[in-house]
Amino acid sequence: MPEEHSERKGMSGGKLSRRAVIGAAAALAGAGLWGRGARAQGQGTLPGAIKSQDGLLTVELDAGLRPVTVAGQLVQLFAYGGRVPGPRLELKAGDTLRLRFVNRLKEPTNLHFHGLHVSPSGNADNIFLEVPPGATQDYEFQIPADHPAGTFWYHPHLHGLVAKQVFLGLSGLLIVRGALDEIPEVAAANEAFAVLKDFAIQGGQVPPPAPMDTVQGREGPVVTVNGKARERFVVPRGGLLRLRLLNASSSRFYHLRLENHPLYLIATDGGALSEPVELDTLLLAPGERAEVLIRGDRNPGSYRLLDLGYDRGVAGMGAFGGTRQAGTRVLAEIVYGEARRPALPLPERLLPVVPLENPVRTRRFVLGHGMQMGRGMVFMINGRIFSPQRVDTSVRLGEVEEWEIVNAGVMDHPFHLHTNPFQIVSRNGYPETVRAWKDVVLVRRGERVRIRVAFKDFPGKTVYHCHILDHEDLGMMGIIEFREGGV
Ligand code: C2O
Ligand code: CU
Ligand code: CU
Repeated sequence: MPEEHSERKGMSGGKLSRRAVIGAAAALAGAGLWGRGARAQGQGTLPGAIKSQDGLLTVELDAGLRPVTVAGQLVQLFAYGGRVPGPRLELKAGDTLRLRFVNRLKEPTNLHFHGLHVSPSGNADNIFLEVPPGATQDYEFQIPADHPAGTFWYHPHLHGLVAKQVFLGLSGLLIVRGALDEIPEVAAANEAFAVLKDFAIQGGQVPPPAPMDTVQGREGPVVTVNGKARERFVVPRGGLLRLRLLNASSSRFYHLRLENHPLYLIATDGGALSEPVELDTLLLAPGERAEVLIRGDRNPGSYRLLDLGYDRGVAGMGAFGGTRQAGTRVLAEIVYGEARRPALPLPERLLPVVPLENPVRTRRFVLGHGMQMGRGMVFMINGRIFSPQRVDTSVRLGEVEEWEIVNAGVMDHPFHLHTNPFQIVSRNGYPETVRAWKDVVLVRRGERVRIRVAFKDFPGKTVYHCHILDHEDLGMMGIIEFREGGV
């Protein structure tokens, strides 16, 4: 496979070449009049958060191999704007994102805006674009005025290289602000972000995966929050912390619990719930987001945010099985800060989650795997591995569909659909109790999950796939086409 080959090549050349630095400087000189927003200064570093102004966010963002500190170690990583995680982009519904992307990697890449309801075509959220090494690609789209507020993200999406490039550090938050941010108790909460990401580090570099690692989905033993081994968040005494979580890992799951505190879920992948839901633990599969409120109503002190561990079906497999089911580990600390008076209550109501109408069509997607001559283990949907030449699913805009997703394999698969968010209807026949907007749904081994989705607004083609990114790269992806109705 050419992908495999380029993967090895990219991994071995650890240090940044002089030519790449000069190339970057030349690219910057040519950037000229571009933008009035933030801009990468050659091999410089962008600010941690970049916000839209007057309805527009203009940014020049590069991807490059850079030395970055994660978990206290200096590592050669793939970084957006010099950062891992990449800069947080913040916009309001109705704003336009104008992003000049410069590929300073030695391999092709591209960008995907995960969870956004925007066009999948042209130079919007088009994952079929390919940005060759050294090339520049302008992305531009408007976030619809009625787009839900929520926690979204961007990452590369070039088939065959996605797991590697995300694993090496490419991902960043994309925040859409709106009604959820204006609910008084939410607005008054301390806001914090937590990008959950694991790394493998060896001699200041990320070592290439063993073949079995890609089949299982690569994981690294260094687990970080915002690139830190022990991130700290502050909850005001008597107040609220709004923690916005993203699982940006290629394959690792996080099974979260906060010592002595329940988590109050207020938003999922696609935005707000109708009211907070009290949780003891929260499982986040790759690609999933969750927003939780934490109440500072216990004895002031420091409490650990734990990952309890989770077996996603790989514990018994291969030589590295043992690391996959690690017991409890500490991800971060929540410390009590100054008192808030009067104390801040939880919000009673959030935003309505309108149920989707009855479907006009149902479909079935069976997730599975098998061996293929010359390729080894392949991952499939309905018996087929991904082909860029084939439209697997053709839907009509304006219609609601119900999809049954069946996991016939031995590993869990988080199923992800681009462009249109969905609602989970049932799991193994049991109705889902909380109505929520999702774009990733975990389908455990042996499970069958029904989701409902309304196809709206945007004609064009995009994909659905397993968000264990190695599985996507190994074929567990299909193309969906949104066609204008009435035919
Ligand atoms: Cu986050 Cu198609 O991906
Ligand atoms: Cu996506
Ligand atoms: Cu999978």
